[in-house]
Amino acid sequence: MPEDLFTEMTDTLFEDKSILSEEYRPDDILERDTEIDAYRTALKDVLFGRNPPNIFLYGKTGVGKTAVTESMMEALEAEVHRRDDADELHVHFRNCNDDSVYQAVRSLINSIRGDDRDPFPETGLSTSRALETLYEEMEDRGGTFLFVLDEIDHLSDPNSLLYELPRARANGHLEDARVGVIGISNNYTFRSSLSPKVKDTLMEKELAFSPYDASELQTILAARAEKAFLPDVCQDSAIKLAAARAAKDTGSARQAIDLLREGGDVAEEQGAEQVTDEHIVAAAERVRRGRVEDKLRDQTMHGQLILEAIARLETNGSVPVRSKEVQSTYEQTATHWDYDPLTTLKSVQNHLADLTMLGFLERTERNEGRAGGAHYQYELALDPELVLDTRESIETAV
Ligand SMILES: Nc1ncnc2c1ncn2[C@@H]1O[C@H](COP(=O)(O)OP(=O)(O)O)[C@@H](O)[C@H]1O
Ligand SMILES: [Mg+2]
Repeated sequence: MPEDLFTEMTDTLFEDKSILSEEYRPDDILERDTEIDAYRTALKDVLFGRNPPNIFLYGKTGVGKTAVTESMMEALEAEVHRRDDADELHVHFRNCNDDSVYQAVRSLINSIRGDDRDPFPETGLSTSRALETLYEEMEDRGGTFLFVLDEIDHLSDPNSLLYELPRARANGHLEDARVGVIGISNNYTFRSSLSPKVKDTLMEKELAFSPYDASELQTILAARAEKAFLPDVCQDSAIKLAAARAAKDTGSARQAIDLLREGGDVAEEQGAEQVTDEHIVAAAERVRRGRVEDKLRDQTMHGQLILEAIARLETNGSVPVRSKEVQSTYEQTATHWDYDPLTTLKSVQNHLADLTMLGFLERTERNEGRAGGAHYQYELALDPELVLDTRESIETAV
């Protein structure tokens, strides 16, 4: 490698790319005034030494639930600090992604203990022991505790924890300390999976976050773009387009921000001086392809070979096809890449059924009258070129 391989590289378009990253916490929350107002009302008891509320926040991914909660907690902590007569406030966050109740409680204990003290054991104790320890730690400190349980729908057996925690004081586990639970879920149907008693307490206060519309996303993106890109680099129309695309698809600010960052990457790769509409279009296409590729790579080898076989048939114009025809092209494809093909028509048909269910294929039923009977015909639900490209790159990757 020549030593000067990187010397000429400059950051041409970005002022600070990390502002478009997942970890970045925005200084200002925009376009959520109504939700912030309701949140503020729900939390105000904390300032007056009353029992804090239990709050349930729901809405699709990327609509600002975590960002708004973080900024609310920061503001509340600051206000409690300012007021001499307010009880001490302790806020603890936990993302419950694939947690057991034990793990979630353990992490709350450790968060209260901080780094100076021994962590609660990873295994070996019961969940009720963990809860007792949590209550002891809370009593030691006193004051108000707010536990933010993010992505709570990923918690295994949420009922037990969500039943116990909000009742800790009523059930005599706590005397000096008070507790409120803020549960956040991307999934509204999660609500109906909870027991009625849990619903009653956790959902004392519900806050719904709706998807953003194009103009809201535009405001959010414009604020980010101003800090992330060098002056005059990102065209307003590019921001508008990214916002419109994301609004039409999911209404997620995360998706909109990802699209803008990807658009910046495309512009930079092309040596452009500005980020334009075309770069956003190219970025959206790249994201779309990436998604399809990931899905394809997740399939079994035989599933992939069958999709490749149908893609080949499709480029020859011979779709829709019956499973028998798929089988012979599949066998050639498998042999071509040095795999042993599955030998029975039935096993090919099973893969076809799975791939149809997963949305890779479209299936139509054909009835050829008494003699022929009914049979299925298949064609790709994806761009065949994309399937062939992806397969090629999977096989030729080192
Ligand atoms: N109203 C908003 N103002 C500024 N940035 C926002 C807003 N809503 C979402 N974001 C940003 O969009 C991304 C996704 O938001 P997040 O709060 O993580 O969504 P959720 O928790 O609902 O999945 C984050 O980068 C966040 O900073
Ligand atoms: Mg979140």
